[in-house]
This record gives sequence, C-alpha cells and structure tokens, in this order.
Amino acid sequence: MKRNICLQLVAILAFCFAACGTEGRNASVATESDVNRESAAVPAEESNAENTAEAKASNANILIAYFSVPEDVDTDGVEAIAGASIVVKEGEKLGSTEYVAKLIQQTVGGDLFRIETQEPYPLDHEPLVDQAADEQDAGLRPKLAAHVEDFDKYEYVFLGFPNWWGDMPQPLYTFLEEYDFGAKTIIPFITHGGSGASRTVDTISRLQPGALMMENELVLSRNDVAESEETIVNWAQGLGINARAELSEGSEGGTVLTATADGMI
Ligand SMILES: Cc1cc2nc3c(=O)[nH]c(=O)nc-3n(C[C@H](O)[C@H](O)[C@H](O)COP(=O)(O)O)c2cc1C
Repeated sequence: MKRNICLQLVAILAFCFAACGTEGRNASVATESDVNRESAAVPAEESNAENTAEAKASNANILIAYFSVPEDVDTDGVEAIAGASIVVKEGEKLGSTEYVAKLIQQTVGGDLFRIETQEPYPLDHEPLVDQAADEQDAGLRPKLAAHVEDFDKYEYVFLGFPNWWGDMPQPLYTFLEEYDFGAKTIIPFITHGGSGASRTVDTISRLQPGALMMENELVLSRNDVAESEETIVNWAQGLGINARAELSEGSEGGTVLTATADGMI
C-alpha cells in the first residue's frame, strides 16, 4: 500500500517537472528580414512555432522597436568587423543594434519592429555620416516607412538605436513623436562607437514624459556587440519584465559595458 502511494507521488512529481519545463520564457527569433522591413511588428508567436501558448500570451505586451543601418562593408565571411557597425552571424549581416534587438526577442519574446524611413539611408559610411549630420542640424523628422499596429496593447517598449553624432538618429524623434506612450515602460538599448549613450535617455524622457523609463538601459560598444550574447541575454532576463511586481525594483544604474576610446564614428 505504502509502496503504491510512493509510486503515485513520484508519478505526480514527474508530471509537474515536465509541465514546468514547457513554461519557460518565450524564446524566438523573428524571421524578420523583408516582412518586417515592409510592415508592422512581427509577432514572436509567428517566428517560432515551438512557443507555448502560455509564453505567447505573457509576452504579447512587449514591443522591441529598433533602428539600425548595417553599413555596406566587405565581410568576407568573418564574424565581426572591427570598427564597422555590423555583425556577421552564421553568414547573415546584421547591424549592431539589429543584432541586439534579435537577441532580446529571443530572450523575452515580444514583437520585433524595425524603424525604417521611407527614404533609405546610404549604406556607405561617408554619405551616411554626412546625411545624419545634415538631418540633425536641420532637426529633420524623416518620414517612416511603417507603423506599429495596435500600439496601445504594449506595456513594455524596448527601444534600440545607434548613437549618431551624440544623439538619437532623427528617425527616433519621428517615432517617439508619433505615438503616445502613456504610462508604458521604455527600455532603451543603445550601441555606439565610443561615446556611450550620450544624453539620449534624457531626451527620450523629455519626449515621452508620462512613460516610465527603465534606468537599467543597455549601452554597448559596437566593438563588443558580436561577443556580448551572454551579457545581452543576462541583462534582458534580469529586467524581470515577466514578473511585473519586480519591475520598479530591479533597475538601478545604466549598464555601460564599454566606452572604447577609439574613433567616435
Ligand atoms: C551617422 C553616424 C554617426 C555616428 N555618431 C557617433 C557618435 O557620435 N558617437 C559614437 O559613439 N558613435 C557614433 N557612431 C557609431 C555608431 O553609434 C555605431 O557604429 C553603432 O553601433 C551603429 O549601429 P547600427 O549598426 O545598428 O546602425 C555613428 C555612426 C554613424 C553611422
């Protein structure tokens, strides 16, 4: 009799462990490329058929919006190009910020949205930096190519961009002025060539005064992005955004990984 009870207990425990194992975070990589370039956010659930229903439901309130311009450099099959703003992973060429955005989505789930302009930026370095400088001087708001559908449904917005001339790229101004973030939580992640985040986080706060800014923003040198998978994953997991009660507690001080002293741009 006792033995039967024991066997039943073991069976129940085994079932519980198996069930818990399927309830992990929503890990998914968007098959973003062309689809995301043309239209609205790519739901995590579409990008990984193995996600559980529970995980999808719990992450439907996360948006990962990012801007990134992978420059046109000859990668020649290597994984990272020193000084260039691209990462090459498994033959795919990604912008530094794009790479970080995709890792964040793998870690916390949510929908990935690429902020793109109607007029694409030049991919060659010199014309790109010149255009960015001109746009900044003029305070331009470049028109965006696509818009986030059902923006209201998101509670957390990861916002990723490169530091351009000590500021956000101008399309970020267009993006932040287009939507009312209300009381959403904004979680910035920024890549740079040596000057860190500059004053971009303050600028975001100024543009969206009602939003809650996650203080623990991620700031990554482009020189380190390709080797920072573990750091990015740990950071995203540490935000505790699936445990909402912990949100306001676990966010002290920005995570500045490196501020390399090489050329700024
Ligand atoms: C137009 C332009 C301006 C830049 N200005 C700065 C800058 O002021 N400070 C800095 O640290 N890096 C600067 N950079 C370097 C980028 O922040 C860095 O390469 C970033 O990782 C690029 O991200 P992406 O590949 O996602 O576009 C600049 C790059 C470009 C293209």
